[in-house]
Amino acid sequence: MNLRVDKTKKTFALTTPLYYVNDIPHIGSAYTTIAADVVARFQRQLGNQVLLITGTDEHGQKIQRTAENLGKAPQEFCDQIVPSFVSLWELLNIQYDRFSRTTAPRHAAIVQEFFQRVWAAGDIYLGQQKGWYCVSCEEFKEERELLEGNRCPIHTNKEVEWRDEENYFFRLSKYQAQLTEFYQSQPDFIQPTSRRNEVLSFVNQGLQDFSISRVNLDWGFPVPDNPKHTLYVWFDALLAYVTALLEPDAQPTLENALATWWPINLHLIGKDILRFHAVYWPAMLISAGLPLPDRVFGHGFLTKNGQKMGKSLGNTLDPVDLVQRYGSDAVRYYFLKEIEFGKDGDFNEVRFINVLNADLANDLGNLLNRTLNMVKKYCAGNVPTIANTAVIAENPLKAIGLRLGEQVKQAYEALAFNQACEAVLLLVQASNKFIDEQAPWSLYKQGQQQALEEVLYAVLESVRLAAYLLSPVIPNISSDIYQQLGFGINFNDQTESATAAPFQTHALWGLLSSKQQLGTPQPIFKRIEPPKND
Ligand code: MSP
Repeated sequence: MNLRVDKTKKTFALTTPLYYVNDIPHIGSAYTTIAADVVARFQRQLGNQVLLITGTDEHGQKIQRTAENLGKAPQEFCDQIVPSFVSLWELLNIQYDRFSRTTAPRHAAIVQEFFQRVWAAGDIYLGQQKGWYCVSCEEFKEERELLEGNRCPIHTNKEVEWRDEENYFFRLSKYQAQLTEFYQSQPDFIQPTSRRNEVLSFVNQGLQDFSISRVNLDWGFPVPDNPKHTLYVWFDALLAYVTALLEPDAQPTLENALATWWPINLHLIGKDILRFHAVYWPAMLISAGLPLPDRVFGHGFLTKNGQKMGKSLGNTLDPVDLVQRYGSDAVRYYFLKEIEFGKDGDFNEVRFINVLNADLANDLGNLLNRTLNMVKKYCAGNVPTIANTAVIAENPLKAIGLRLGEQVKQAYEALAFNQACEAVLLLVQASNKFIDEQAPWSLYKQGQQQALEEVLYAVLESVRLAAYLLSPVIPNISSDIYQQLGFGINFNDQTESATAAPFQTHALWGLLSSKQQLGTPQPIFKRIEPPKND
């Protein structure tokens, strides 16, 4: 997408990792991408100009071997896998702006220019690399990290391979002091704190230069001036974040790429690739004389029976199947609400169904439905004409609603998606309780129209606010709720949602007015029947 930047707005650029294409995407890849999409949607609602980058990492030994085993040329193999990522993002309702492929021709130009800069800084030299290599991680491992039988601690079913070869090295050790100083001066650079501590302790142990080329590997960019060597896949992959910043019609130069969106505001990654993003990447950037990104957030692993789900381990969950069975909002909601972002979380289908039924079908769905039906019955289907200001501040829903927007904003900014969802859900639950306690049907019978309208207004407004604040996570359901409340707003339409429903007005309690023409009550989330036990 060609995004012309509106210079009056703040920019916010964020990335997902660029996924290896050794196989079709699995739920782990979907997890980061969903989170990134939620952040992007939230930032757009704040009125910022957003660039969400995702893409694929296609070079290196892992991909070359997989293609070979299938009897395919690597490029042909990659071209066959990439569409499965594109279509999964569509299925999950991901609104990305750029899809960066490391095999894109203009990426080669960016890599070459960057390499020259680092070379000119005197940070690349030829040396001998000896060590244990995990092809699935595309990373050398320390001997002490290995499991019994020389197995990788992450890909526990894969043996590491011994390498003793001539490689080019990047002088990481030179940046020890500068990096340490950087982490001190930018305490929010690595999040959450546990990951930051991991990185600090790794760096404090003393940084060693790392190899950035391979021999006996064809699938990658040749090292400038020495084509016997291929660039290490990670050196090339990180730079694809930069390539992604180029406007589609721009010449592929670093200057053009860095003109508008650099430095990137947020790199969202999983904890296994923290070192690359929080140590190697900033050092490479300092070497090339470039400003550093604002923030790297390392989330946890999705596990199945306590083990990381993954392509290499073969214990993954098919995200396509999950979305086809339950819908994109359900999948998005479950992973963000149920797992604290930053911690590991186990997937369990029974829990999945229970959470969706409890939160979306019962609490939120029923609330909207019962309230709209009561408004139809007791108020001729119109939003009660009561002014928001007439609802007393002690009203329990108003009391929550008045501070909810700010609270949820802070949670999204901190990437505490579960807290954002939980805070909204508290309002929803309080609304259901409020209806039960106030019993609008009795107020109606007693002819207490004023009191009745006040109750119904407070509840309708709470549903609206809840829908709005959850819209980055469940955009389809929120749009349906908004439609039924008489707002012609579709949260999947970026322009419409940013201009017609900006955060500064829609996140405030009291927006609903009697001008809204309420729609027909319709279920927004169908209860899921638990699968029969065999
Ligand atoms: N190609 C590199 C990234 C290069 S970025 C310049 C890579 N790719 S990957 O496909 O193996 O992993 C991509 C992301 O998916 C990583 O952030 C990884 O943590 C995440 N996940 C892979 N399996 C996962 C789970 N089971 N759970 C959560 N995320 C996991 O690494």
